[in-house]
Amino acid sequence: MAHADAAAGAAGNLPADLRALIADERDLVANCANAAALLWHRLPRLNWAGFYLLRDGELVLGPFQGKPACTRIALSRGVCGAAASTRATINVPDVALFPGHIACDSASRSELVVPLLRDGALLGVLDLDSPDLARFDAETVRIVEAAAAVIAGGSASRPSA
Ligand code: SME
Repeated sequence: MAHADAAAGAAGNLPADLRALIADERDLVANCANAAALLWHRLPRLNWAGFYLLRDGELVLGPFQGKPACTRIALSRGVCGAAASTRATINVPDVALFPGHIACDSASRSELVVPLLRDGALLGVLDLDSPDLARFDAETVRIVEAAAAVIAGGSASRPSA
């Protein structure tokens, strides 16, 4: 799919459009980069959309859209570390109430983190921040989890040499 076309349309089509967008590429970083752009343009009310990728036992900043962010997150820290270590989606309606939340951007009020899993192996996490409280409803969570599955299933676990 042409990259310009991929950013248009309803959020519900996002997983299928993402699948088409990354169909010819296996590189994890390249696919995360296009996924971050697609999520950013397709989902309203975000102030950050991107990835932290698992590297040598910690999460390292990957492709994203939004303001510059912290580069490394231990698996024991933050919403991202909690989602990575439990391998479960974490939806935080109010980040002020999440103990240990890492405030990369003070504008963030709610956050959704979905692990990237392939065959049980953790590749990293997909992280969305919103300036609105409780931005991420059940339908959005379903769409973002589907997008994470498309990325993990369609990418090699390591960047190609
Ligand atoms: N808030 C995250 C840190 C990453 S930024 O939101 C981009 C956390 O608590 O893990």
